Amino acid sequence: MTSTGRLRIAVQKSGRLAELSLALIRRCGLRFARDQDHLACSGENLPVDLILVRDDDIPALLADGTCDAGIAGLNLFEEHRLANPDGATFDVCRPLDFGVCRLAVAVPEDAAVESLHRLNGCRVATSYPGLTRRYFERHGIEIAIVTMSGAVELAPRLGKADAVCDLVSTGVTLKAHGLRELETVFASQAAFAVTRRELATGQRELIEKLARRMDGVLRVNGSKYIMLHAPRSALASIRRLLPGAESPTVLPLDGESGRVAVHAVCSESVFWETLENLKGAGASALLVLPIEKMLP
Ligand code: PRP
Ligand code: ZN
Repeated sequence: MTSTGRLRIAVQKSGRLAELSLALIRRCGLRFARDQDHLACSGENLPVDLILVRDDDIPALLADGTCDAGIAGLNLFEEHRLANPDGATFDVCRPLDFGVCRLAVAVPEDAAVESLHRLNGCRVATSYPGLTRRYFERHGIEIAIVTMSGAVELAPRLGKADAVCDLVSTGVTLKAHGLRELETVFASQAAFAVTRRELATGQRELIEKLARRMDGVLRVNGSKYIMLHAPRSALASIRRLLPGAESPTVLPLDGESGRVAVHAVCSESVFWETLENLKGAGASALLVLPIEKMLP
């Protein structure tokens, strides 16, 4: 717990995860103002401060208790864990469904390397020595790791390494540097993690409340509420067409004994094709509504 008694949540200051992390926290009902120095945001309706830092620093900030919770890539949390095997330092609570990327091995486009085993005895440049070493060891391939904190993709051209093991999201960076992806070492995405250092009861409860709200936000991602009218006789086929709906509500329609209203939460996207198929099955008065919040 921090001396102010306010919860400190570390998020990326700028980069792939920054905006989406703040958007998620906003959707959890936290209102905050950006401080003038742009290094922190104070929660206006809950005792929470957002600390804006480099994502690479977030695992260590949770491990030493400087911050209580944070959002960063699973790749960073796992790398930190590998580098600090003795420290029970933070728990990764939940993946967050954004910032999807992978740590991948790549070689120069023209290199005669068709499989990972051809890299035996080679030098691999990476910012993730722990994850990289573990992967090659598991495959029984001996490599020399060249640790770099950035610009890893330049290493082959500089003659520093024969291959790289770097994060790939769209693949644009690899392509721009004439590199060809060989194999995925670690599949990653943004995750919410909490320090294992002691927290006051109120703080732990607040973190749990935020985590539950995150679950609620994740649950509605892509979900829709669908309403339609249908002949009672078409109910079975209509239920089959509703994407990811468990048990729709079926209501009588006043003065129309053969027809009903169907309301359902669809956990998958509702495409135009789905609506056209429902119409084809006899549905009418179709409405698709966004869902803002959902609690089980
Ligand atoms: C990663 C990686 C590449 C880029 C790949 O950096 O180091 O530079 O993203 O993305 P692309 O496949 O979409 O081109 P990261 O986002 O982790 O930024 P950082 O290294 O500055 O923290
Ligand atoms: Zn980073």
